Amino acid sequence: MTLSLENSINQKMCQIFSRLGLDPRFAAVKVSDRPDLSDFQCNGALALAKSERKNPREIAAGIAAELEKDAAFAKISVDGPGFINMSLTDAYIAANMDEVAADERFGVGKVEDSHTVVMDFGGPNVAKALHVGHLRSAVIGESIRRIELFAGNRVISDVHLGDWGTPMGMILAEIINQDGNLGKTETYGIEEISAFYKKANIRCKEDEAAKEKARIITAELQNGSPEYRKAWQHLRKVSVEAIKENYDALDAHFDLWLGESDAHEACGEIVRLAARKGLSEVDDGATIIRLEGNKPPVILVKSDGGFGYQVTDIATIKMRYDDLHAEEILYVVDKRQSLHFEQCFESAEKLGIAPGVKFRHIGFGTVNGADGKPFKTRDGGVMNLEDLIKLSKDKVRESVPAAGEVEGYGEAEIENLVSQIAIGAIKFQDLKNNTASGYVFELDDFAKFEGKTGPYIQYAIARINSILRKAAEAGTKEGKVVITNNEERDLALKIAQLNAVVMRAHNEKEPSVVSDYAYTLAQSFSTFYNVSSIMNAENKDFASSRLKLARLVRDILRQLLYLLGIEAPEVMLKKASAE
Ligand code: ARG
Repeated sequence: MTLSLENSINQKMCQIFSRLGLDPRFAAVKVSDRPDLSDFQCNGALALAKSERKNPREIAAGIAAELEKDAAFAKISVDGPGFINMSLTDAYIAANMDEVAADERFGVGKVEDSHTVVMDFGGPNVAKALHVGHLRSAVIGESIRRIELFAGNRVISDVHLGDWGTPMGMILAEIINQDGNLGKTETYGIEEISAFYKKANIRCKEDEAAKEKARIITAELQNGSPEYRKAWQHLRKVSVEAIKENYDALDAHFDLWLGESDAHEACGEIVRLAARKGLSEVDDGATIIRLEGNKPPVILVKSDGGFGYQVTDIATIKMRYDDLHAEEILYVVDKRQSLHFEQCFESAEKLGIAPGVKFRHIGFGTVNGADGKPFKTRDGGVMNLEDLIKLSKDKVRESVPAAGEVEGYGEAEIENLVSQIAIGAIKFQDLKNNTASGYVFELDDFAKFEGKTGPYIQYAIARINSILRKAAEAGTKEGKVVITNNEERDLALKIAQLNAVVMRAHNEKEPSVVSDYAYTLAQSFSTFYNVSSIMNAENKDFASSRLKLARLVRDILRQLLYLLGIEAPEVMLKKASAE
């Protein structure tokens, strides 16, 4: 296995610690806080001082003396209260780059405790068009899915469709209202179904009787009325088709298309189990489980006898444990639902339905407009995902030549390119922000080819592609890496951070760690290439070395975009006037 630079130093450190009888858990190094002083640092001596009953500088000096014997290091020093600073020789860095360039994982390790992660994201609702509020779950969820897989876990993604609640009864009631019965239901497409839902929503808000009727229909649907089930099947099918198109456009992948309805039987089991374990009680007609602290109780059965959102999620946990053998369950859902998940996780633990399973709610903030309120269309309406994609494509067209202006680029090729850039721009704008915080959708800059944007990284990749094509034409081949200047050295050290970046993104479930790194790596490459020419290199060996570094950066940037769920076009076209 190829080790990243950091891990190969970690390995050396562990050996030294063991040799000196020190706890190797404190041996880890990190990228130096003072790059002007050193490449890496280890602060372990400070942590060890107490248990070793020694002065940390003394411990550090012992370790430093061992490091001095290793030819990999150019400079070792003990600074401040006991920090060990180390700088590597250029030859050692170069040799590591050769290894990383030959490795298809670029020196990125895998988790030691590889396990099955069930991911719950998307969470769309039947009959409701996907809007900007659904964007983050799909975009962040897909990125974390890819990061988890790359880190070495097994992942099963489930869309967890909202297909079982009162909205279902509301739509059926509205169809009956307008048509007299459900006879025509199967002729309706997604537009009509969404329209029925909108009407139903208004009617139920104004009219108690209509609301009551919808509630009764929902209960009968859940209890198995064949007529309602048949009509509902159709609503569900048509919605799933429309939703699949949206998720395909976003490149979000779901292994399972289960919904709340699939947990219906298991809800009954949960209710019986809770009663058997003496955990539930009836309160005001509803069956509930009381929780610790001042959390409100969880509702298993509503006072009208129906199952609601909470018991459905608890029952789904049981299914994911029993059927999918989940060892960890991740929910990528709006952070405003955090109490709901705390309640569900605690209930699952009390019920003992998923022993040993780790639960994590990855709560995200909202996408806001410039006014700080949830992002809307120009006329104040809800921003549908399709509108947003269209808006992004229009922005991208400002920078890309029109069909026919570039040889080989007809309508289809330009459309394909525009779409790759537009989706990349939307996704990167989302993923460059910390998951938990909301963000303001930057209408002016998000699709530009300059700045911290998706198109900038795509452009950086395409630019290296073009460099590689020219080098191939000139007959230049990749060769051993040699470090010839500071910019090359900095780029290599930047590349060396990849393993730590991926592992941090995985541990923190935070794609912005990846997007940040991709941006700074692209910048380091630019700085490197400004001073380190391939075509006009001082000699052939330098050209071959730089070619290898360029190809490596291109491959890593592609991998990083892949982890963000963003495509990397081979070529990027830019209008002369575009930024
Ligand atoms: N359909 C829900 C909503 O629109 C989101 C579902 C999230 N996932 C879950 N397991 N509760 O709010």
